[in-house]
Amino acid sequence: MASRVDTHFWFLLGVAAFFTTLIAGLIVYFMVKYRRRSDDEVPGIVHGSLALEAGWSIIPFLITLVVFFWGASIYVTLARPPDDATQVNVVGRQWMWKVQHMDGRREINELHVAVGRPVRLVLTSEDVIHSFFIPAFRVKMDAVPGIYTQLWFEPTKVGTYHLFCAEYCGTLHAGMIGRIVVMEPDEFQRWLSGPAPGAAAGLPVALAGEQVFQEQGCGSCHRADAARAPNLAGLFGSTVRLADGSTVTADAAYVRESILRPAAKVVANYEPIMPTYQGILSEESVMQLIEYVKTLGAPAGGQP
Ligand code: CUA
Repeated sequence: MASRVDTHFWFLLGVAAFFTTLIAGLIVYFMVKYRRRSDDEVPGIVHGSLALEAGWSIIPFLITLVVFFWGASIYVTLARPPDDATQVNVVGRQWMWKVQHMDGRREINELHVAVGRPVRLVLTSEDVIHSFFIPAFRVKMDAVPGIYTQLWFEPTKVGTYHLFCAEYCGTLHAGMIGRIVVMEPDEFQRWLSGPAPGAAAGLPVALAGEQVFQEQGCGSCHRADAARAPNLAGLFGSTVRLADGSTVTADAAYVRESILRPAAKVVANYEPIMPTYQGILSEESVMQLIEYVKTLGAPAGGQP
């Protein structure tokens, strides 16, 4: 993406430079050419020029259309991670980035990835708004408390790149920096399965989610045979009918909200009896629970 963003940037800069030079040059040229030559000189009356006026309306209009569609196509690509992108969870907090790979590997202020493989980051924050910024990849996304945002990239060159927080988030904002380490795929696999210096390896995220599920006793209500709470098998990605008659797609944001604010969207035919887990579960635990719920089957997978 970096070269596409850069080409667009240089195009904008080129257009701006061309017109700035043209306009400034014409101003100077006309100042000299049409200067007052004698004290009693009276300027002639100028009527409009249709060709000129149409030209300076239509040409800039066409240029802005080019800028718009070009920029929009880059935006759409950046906004839509490919389906085969590897997910990595990222939680921002004052003042560090906490990263967890799906197999459980954790990192602080570092993100290891394999070259040539698309990566999708799911971002949130424990406290204030942060912004995950990798200048070399030309990608930046806010990490906002209360919601999930995403960002994707496909590293094309092995190396180490800067990671910055790009949203002022308090005293040590400037220290909220890290690095992105892009490795050869086999080297990355070795890193992923190797010992974890400084950062603890953990359970795979979905398994950690299952553990949270059990520790919190979620299963006592969300059992396959229970009538008190919806069965979670096949939930993720499905369309859920709510008590108020509307429907919602069971995505990560919905599952998160239902854990932290269960009364917000009550499933049809169920009582709003679930307690809130706001303040009880960390953002990481909620992300783990979501991965666990995903493993309980998707509607397309032949699940009930
Ligand atoms: Cu986090 Cu600035």
